[in-house]
Amino acid sequence: MSVHSFWEPYLELQTELESVTQVMAKQIRLRNKEIEAALLDSIYAGGKMIRPAYTLLFSKFGNTQHVDRTLALAAAVELLHTATLIHDDVIDDSPLRRGTPSLQSKYGKDVAVYAGDYLFTVCFRLLSTYADTQEHIEINTRGMERILMGELDQMHLRYNKNMSIRGYLTQISGKTAQLFALACYSGALNGGQTEFFSRNGYYIGSHIGMAFQITDDILDYSQTLNVFGKPVLEDVRQGIYTAPLIFALQENNKRLRELVDKEAHMTGEDAKEVQQLVIELDGLEKAKQLARKYTQKAMKRIEQLPEQQEKEHIKKITLSLLDRHV
Ligand code: IPE
Ligand code: IPE
Ligand code: MG
Ligand code: MG
Repeated sequence: MSVHSFWEPYLELQTELESVTQVMAKQIRLRNKEIEAALLDSIYAGGKMIRPAYTLLFSKFGNTQHVDRTLALAAAVELLHTATLIHDDVIDDSPLRRGTPSLQSKYGKDVAVYAGDYLFTVCFRLLSTYADTQEHIEINTRGMERILMGELDQMHLRYNKNMSIRGYLTQISGKTAQLFALACYSGALNGGQTEFFSRNGYYIGSHIGMAFQITDDILDYSQTLNVFGKPVLEDVRQGIYTAPLIFALQENNKRLRELVDKEAHMTGEDAKEVQQLVIELDGLEKAKQLARKYTQKAMKRIEQLPEQQEKEHIKKITLSLLDRHV
């Protein structure tokens, strides 16, 4: 088994992320062997493991290193992420995830719902075993709540032609940035750092998460399915209006408006035309600027971290997430 090639330049992290995968896999114990196999498939499908990597890195700024606990927390973060993706694919009826058939398309929506639910329980099992304080569990629960709120906002705002950048940012700050914030914050606290230090980690994670989701939304308009490993040009057809489209819509282009007004009736050809218009109307460029702005915000705070190797890694990783292709 090997972790995503993204981690090749970071040997130590690579090894640790492999251990995180093992911890995750070891927790999956079900009488229903079909669901067990489906979940192990998802875990070994080669997710990038960005969030647990930040947990591991932020754990190293303190002076208490409990290896088992650190791995367990990182695993809990990734399990929570995997559960939300399994459910997200049910909601989007998505055939593909991480370059292979999604759990829901392979085993059906009922299995996928239970499988995702099971991962949430595994996440809590790990947290209740390893989190050293009640507060830590509370923070995770609140984080989960905010993720759900972001998803509910997104559902509520589907096909909303008046979607503003502000509304979009609120939505992604819940559905994506929260988990990044939690990953960094809980890592720092776990390593024995102060609440003040860990708070800075929280904001760093939150800014990184914003840039991460904006980049994912750009890739939906600019990447191919083969490279991305999941369907592209899907967001607009699902009524999820993200930064590239919102910026393009601000140009009041009649044809773009007409196409978007087709809502769920939009064809594949229509979506390609939307893509062309989004590019021509500078939607992608403006979205890239927005992502860069959040990365810069994160970098400013990262600069305040103490000088040690992990700081350099965090800087490099955070910048490279902006240029990623997957
Ligand atoms: C996908 O996250 C969902 C978003 C929040 C954009 P990742 O791009 O981290 O997904 P995997 O884990 O690598 O598949
Ligand atoms: C992330 O958003 C989903 C969650 C945070 C659950 P997306 O809907 O953009 O994720 P992908 O593109 O399907 O991976
Ligand atoms: Mg999706
Ligand atoms: Mg997406």
